[in-house]
Amino acid sequence: MDILPAHIGIIMDGNGRWARMRGLPRIEGHRQGEESIMEAVRFCAERGIKALSLFAFSTENWERPPEEVRFLVNMSREVLRKRLEEFMKLGVRLRHLGRRDRIPEKILAWFDLAAAVTAENRGLNLNINFNYGGRREILDASLRAAESVRRGSLTPDVIDEGTLRGFFYAPDLPDMDLLIRTAGEMRISNFMLWHLAEAEIVVTPVLWPDFGRKDLEKALQEYRCRKYMEKSDYHPPAGAGSRNR
Ligand code: IPE
Ligand code: IPE
Ligand code: MG
Repeated sequence: MDILPAHIGIIMDGNGRWARMRGLPRIEGHRQGEESIMEAVRFCAERGIKALSLFAFSTENWERPPEEVRFLVNMSREVLRKRLEEFMKLGVRLRHLGRRDRIPEKILAWFDLAAAVTAENRGLNLNINFNYGGRREILDASLRAAESVRRGSLTPDVIDEGTLRGFFYAPDLPDMDLLIRTAGEMRISNFMLWHLAEAEIVVTPVLWPDFGRKDLEKALQEYRCRKYMEKSDYHPPAGAGSRNR
């Protein structure tokens, strides 16, 4: 029996530390992280994972030094430009999740192009969370719901979780089953707060530029173990990760 998560999220962290350990500027860590991104995409596409959300740039990351911000913004376009053909071959459907404001027009154009070109693909749903904040997504959804109420196309008493979900950046996206964070921090850092509600969390000390297939395989194995224990009669001692519902 293979228990696969339908939706995996990754907080890709540790690029700066990777570079610092080598006496290199931080941007070299980001540059190196591109291959890890591609490996994760290939792995998930090959394994038949339905959705992968990659946290590439948070709403908080604008506070970083301007040259680092510039590099990260441009890198997102470069990855799309260089890798679009491979995404097509892999059957990946790509979407940008996050706010559009503050992202330069010429970068947004690439996000839009990649989304349009891959829209009919039926393989992995790849979400690039860029200028993304979990609270902001919930706020934006609430504002859009309020606007529908104002226009008269929605009445407040019928609003439930499903209704609100319909206003999210990607309404069809299922809950996140597995969250992976690299570089050891035990934080959510304002990632997909709504979708994370029931996720299993795997934190690895491996820095993002060093993260590869075997690390993903390990995270999946950990996920399988936890799900198996949840389903079986095995009750681990309190605090050992069981849900005890
Ligand atoms: C993650 O690596 C990449 C982004 C947040 C864009 P960091 O740049 O946060 O690396 P550390 O945490 O400083 O090592
Ligand atoms: C989270 O990493 C955001 C991304 C991976 C894009 P950060 O390095 O920005 O998060 P904090 O600052 O450690 O919480
Ligand atoms: Mg970090």
